[in-house]
Amino acid sequence: MDLHAAYGGVVPEIAARSHIEAITPVINQALQQACPCKNKNDERSDLSKKDGDMCDHWGQIDGIAVTYGAGLGGSLLVGVMAARTYAITKNKPLYAVNHVEGHIYANFLTDSLQGGSLQTYALRSRQPKFPMLGLIISGGHSQIVIWQGHFDYTLLGQTVDDAIGEAFDKVAKLLGLPYPGGPHIGQKAKAGDPFKYDLPKAKLKDPYNYSFSGLKTAVLRLAQAEIGKDHRFPSFQIAEKLSETQKANIAASFQRVALETVVDKVVTAYEEFQPKSVVIGGGVAASPELRRQLAERLPRLSDQQNGQAFPIEYQDAKLMTDNGAMIATLGCFQALYDKAPVDPYSLEIAPNLAMSS
Ligand code: KG4
Ligand code: ZN
Repeated sequence: MDLHAAYGGVVPEIAARSHIEAITPVINQALQQACPCKNKNDERSDLSKKDGDMCDHWGQIDGIAVTYGAGLGGSLLVGVMAARTYAITKNKPLYAVNHVEGHIYANFLTDSLQGGSLQTYALRSRQPKFPMLGLIISGGHSQIVIWQGHFDYTLLGQTVDDAIGEAFDKVAKLLGLPYPGGPHIGQKAKAGDPFKYDLPKAKLKDPYNYSFSGLKTAVLRLAQAEIGKDHRFPSFQIAEKLSETQKANIAASFQRVALETVVDKVVTAYEEFQPKSVVIGGGVAASPELRRQLAERLPRLSDQQNGQAFPIEYQDAKLMTDNGAMIATLGCFQALYDKAPVDPYSLEIAPNLAMSS
């Protein structure tokens, strides 16, 4: 995030290069922290230890899971090549995981990190139940999916243009707020009136698809109008001309409408599919305003339909943004459900991987 913040968004080349630098140290650190052996420092360089004391930590590992898409090609390539290499040299089964599905599987992992130790990560004692409605909202994806069981799902809808997080990031840039935009919009919105401006919600033929590009353009036009300029006025000069009150009102109105757009779909799907669990993944899931809207609209529906309150459970905030633990969790389910591992000599990346079960 620090590397990308200066550019107002993820720069694919920088991301790929820092993946190369980080991947081996990160894997080694994870192995060291998770292994129950006593060798917590680099035991290979510690000559005082006898051979028998040495542990390379790989003995504890049953398999390797890696995401091969969707995502940025350069970064995926680094991860996939590392995973293929370890699968071959350490002789472990290799599981290929769809990144977007991985976001949902973070909900099957413990919600309490108990001091942050990797050794306390485990599958949740109370697992989400099927049918399970999943919402994935991040900087790269906006999908709504119904799962009837593990590996048995239907993609109901997705964005036809920008992802919702991307819209947050672009509006933040327009308002002169730092990257990543979501949390900064949320912060700014606290001082604003969410009903100050009437921004449009896209109406698409398919009830579960969304579009955010019209909303983004509407915010640009609104900001231009607020400072008394027309559509030719360059967007990068707008922020300095807006007052703090105008920025707060634009942030609050945009945030309300953008999140209402996805919450509307969740409510429609909830009525249609009567899920036993609703789970959410991706960076935007951390939004307090999203939680407020869901808490306001879902339990009421649930009360009417089942006569009982609907508990929405959220995953640990650390697991909502991109992380390796969610990929490991779905890999673990693949192994538990006897899915065949992939060939480590031929796994390719799939930057535009779609969701299909
Ligand atoms: O899942 P993620 O970490 O990475 C992707 O796969 O994209 O999501 C990052 C996105 C960014 O667009 C960021 O602005 C957004 O999640 N985000 C939020 C919040 N925290 C992060 N959006 C709205 N409210 C938040 N609190
Ligand atoms: Zn992601």
